[in-house]
Amino acid sequence: IGQNLHYEETVDSTQKIAHRLAQEGAVEGTVIVAEEQTAGRGRLARKWYSPKYTGVWMSIILRPAIPPQHAPQLTLLAAVAIVQAIQEVTNVLPDIKWPNDILVNNKKLVGILTEMQADVEQVHSVIIGIGINVNQKLEHFDSDIQHLATSLSIEEQKEVNRAALMQAIFLKMESLYEDYLENGFGLVKHLWESYSISIGKRIIARTLKATIEGHAKGITNDGVLLLEDDNGTVHHIHSADIELSS
Ligand code: BTN
Repeated sequence: IGQNLHYEETVDSTQKIAHRLAQEGAVEGTVIVAEEQTAGRGRLARKWYSPKYTGVWMSIILRPAIPPQHAPQLTLLAAVAIVQAIQEVTNVLPDIKWPNDILVNNKKLVGILTEMQADVEQVHSVIIGIGINVNQKLEHFDSDIQHLATSLSIEEQKEVNRAALMQAIFLKMESLYEDYLENGFGLVKHLWESYSISIGKRIIARTLKATIEGHAKGITNDGVLLLEDDNGTVHHIHSADIELSS
């Protein structure tokens, strides 16, 4: 991962470029990284603010032989690799919040967006977009998200080397990915649950249809959250905003 690296100064979105390169046959492990994105995208059609020289904005192309419903496993794999890399390069100890946010003190540090090119049976490529707030100062964030977002340098109170962080992520991801292809999802699932702030705790999940409070028991092999309510019913949560219950 990262052997074939496309470095760009300014792009609209590294995801968009990665989709195009994947279509054109880019090799597995190709990475597109940019200093700045003018139209960075987040999950749920949100925008991802990507100012110049401050963050790690990149997209990674993988080509695993897996069915499409297993693609979310790779989001979890990326999250584990990023947490491990951050712990190696800095003194920050981040948590993972289901499904794929990485937080410090409940503020968002990293976002991951996984998209794929696939037919019903087979994944052709998985594109993992990673946005890490590295050297932003608080005033770099729009005032409406200042209380929700943070960066490694805000947490560390010094500049963090973005190249070293990226290199660490590539190495961690590569070794987890090799294990994943050989032995399946077990190791990633175990590590992910150990870094998660929600698993084993009481949480509130707000889905489009309902608000459910209960005990977060774990995740399934498809990345679905298992939430046991007070009647003992286990709900399979596919998509929700979750919050620790106080
Ligand atoms: C989220 O909503 O939390 C996911 C944010 C993902 C942002 C990254 S930055 C690099 C890549 N290119 C994009 O346009 N988005 C992802």
